[in-house]
Amino acid sequence: MAQQRCRSVLITGCSRGIGLGLVRGLATACPAPDWLIATCRYPEKAQELQQLSKQHRNIKVLQLDVVCENSIKKAVKEVEELLGDEGLNCLINNAGINVLASLEEVTAEAMLTIYETNTVAQLMVTKAFLPLLRKAAQLGTGMGCHRAAIINMSSISASMQLVQENEMFLKVYPYRIAKTALNMITRCLAVDLTADEILCVSLHPGWIQTDMGGCMAPLTVQEAIPGILSVLANLSKKDNGSFLDNKGEMVPW
Ligand SMILES: NC(=O)c1ccc[n+]([C@@H]2O[C@H](COP(=O)([O-])OP(=O)(O)OC[C@H]3O[C@@H](n4cnc5c(N)ncnc54)[C@H](OP(=O)(O)O)[C@@H]3O)[C@@H](O)[C@H]2O)c1
Repeated sequence: MAQQRCRSVLITGCSRGIGLGLVRGLATACPAPDWLIATCRYPEKAQELQQLSKQHRNIKVLQLDVVCENSIKKAVKEVEELLGDEGLNCLINNAGINVLASLEEVTAEAMLTIYETNTVAQLMVTKAFLPLLRKAAQLGTGMGCHRAAIINMSSISASMQLVQENEMFLKVYPYRIAKTALNMITRCLAVDLTADEILCVSLHPGWIQTDMGGCMAPLTVQEAIPGILSVLANLSKKDNGSFLDNKGEMVPW
């Protein structure tokens, strides 16, 4: 994203972890986006993000709880006012939760909770911001984050083909199933939005040391972000509807 001119990026779940890392990385990218809309559930509690926004004038912190319809509507209105006729270039559906549950432990409640936050919310947030993405798409050429793109933060644990190779993921039934469904959203959007030339991909960001990734993860957020940003910067038409890892390589569905 740093090389291709991307005027505006909106990221969900920026209070901590990968979302906060993306905001930090993009704020210091060259060239940085004109608008870096960093959304989070509780802006008043997101101290690091607030600090960062004081250092970079292009960061706009907005409240957005991805499971709350009113919050989504309000955020869309605020972003519309901010970006005007230029529309939104890149939406990164990053917010997510994990619920640890093996086959023995999994409950309907756990499944529904995670499905709401990790799958349904991404579709609803995307639908709500679609008019702004379409506006941006109408002004650009080619396909990618410089024009109009939807990035769904997925996980390699959602790969159906790699299930046998990743036994440790069997303890996260709700998480991996919800992310597999998210991948289907990516595929459907990629087909549906082809005419608008809005790109949509699922991205496995790597196993990263965050509250969700845990301390055993091999990558710190600081180490992981440059790779993720490089993948985003290089997205083009050939990637539409793909499931990519943090090196830009295809993850088997
Ligand atoms: N870390 C990894 O190794 C890894 C690997 C593969 C995929 N991922 C994916 O990458 C994304 C970010 O993960 P992470 O490791 O940064 O997780 P994290 O450190 O647990 O952060 C999750 C973020 O999502 C936000 N969030 C949760 N529910 C929300 C809601 N209803 N509305 C708005 N924001 C909400 C949290 O906000 P609050 O502070 O308000 O709770 C927080 O900012 C997730 O989609 C995750 O599945 C992570």
